[in-house]
Amino acid sequence: MRKLYVIGIGAGDPDQVTVQAIKAMRQVEVFFVIGKGAEKRELVEVRTAILAEHVERPYRIVEIADPPRDRTPADYQGVVEDWHERRSALLEDAFAQVDGVGGILVWGDPALYDSTLRMIERVLARGTAHFDYTVIPGVTSVQALAARHRMVLHRIGEPVHITTGRRLREEGLADSAVVMLDGDCSFTEVPGADVHIWWGAYLGMPDETLIDGPLREVEQEIVERRARLRAEKGWIMDIYLLSRG
Ligand SMILES: C[S@@+](CC[C@H](N)C(=O)[O-])C[C@H]1O[C@@H](n2cnc3c(N)ncnc32)[C@H](O)[C@@H]1O
Repeated sequence: MRKLYVIGIGAGDPDQVTVQAIKAMRQVEVFFVIGKGAEKRELVEVRTAILAEHVERPYRIVEIADPPRDRTPADYQGVVEDWHERRSALLEDAFAQVDGVGGILVWGDPALYDSTLRMIERVLARGTAHFDYTVIPGVTSVQALAARHRMVLHRIGEPVHITTGRRLREEGLADSAVVMLDGDCSFTEVPGADVHIWWGAYLGMPDETLIDGPLREVEQEIVERRARLRAEKGWIMDIYLLSRG
């Protein structure tokens, strides 16, 4: 492979794919798709639908099975490190099969809670593959959440804090935070009567669901709705903004 495009495709809404992303997709001969198992089939389908809509020239799709990993390890960093190593070895093998231009479609933006760029750097660091690569930014789920709730993420001049459910449980909520990757409804453990939540699931997708209100008043509704949606579809992606006062 001589050239690789890492293309952010937005967080689910096909209309949020940028013109720059479409132009890059049209250069690509082989797309690498990292599969996440049957329950995430729909996410792979969103990507293939985007390609079918925007790319007329012939291309190939190479699916790369995602190696399994322990989701609740004692040694979190060690397990992630090992998983990245196995994933990058699979990518290296796949890259070696391609002569021309490759592409990876990344959910949202590649700079936010996504390991694709780290994996590519790993592949290059091994020294056996040589290729140039370009990153095309995408609309993140953070932006999609803010837009759907018509929210500014911070007070005037204040910083933005983006974190994970795990870190929210460990560190608590100082003032406000956008929380991603939270399979455990960690907002229920945030104390205080003055916290507001703006929650969104499947943003930009047909099952999009939005709930907002004072945390203590709506938390149970979110927990129940989340569990029901997850049971119906077999998977869920959700994100929320918490703010005090
Ligand atoms: C591995 S991260 C990827 C983030 C992605 N790179 C981005 O820019 O949004 C996956 C997390 O993003 C959030 N997410 C991504 N897409 C979403 C969507 N359509 N609706 C709600 N949350 C979403 C969820 O918190 C999910 O757990």
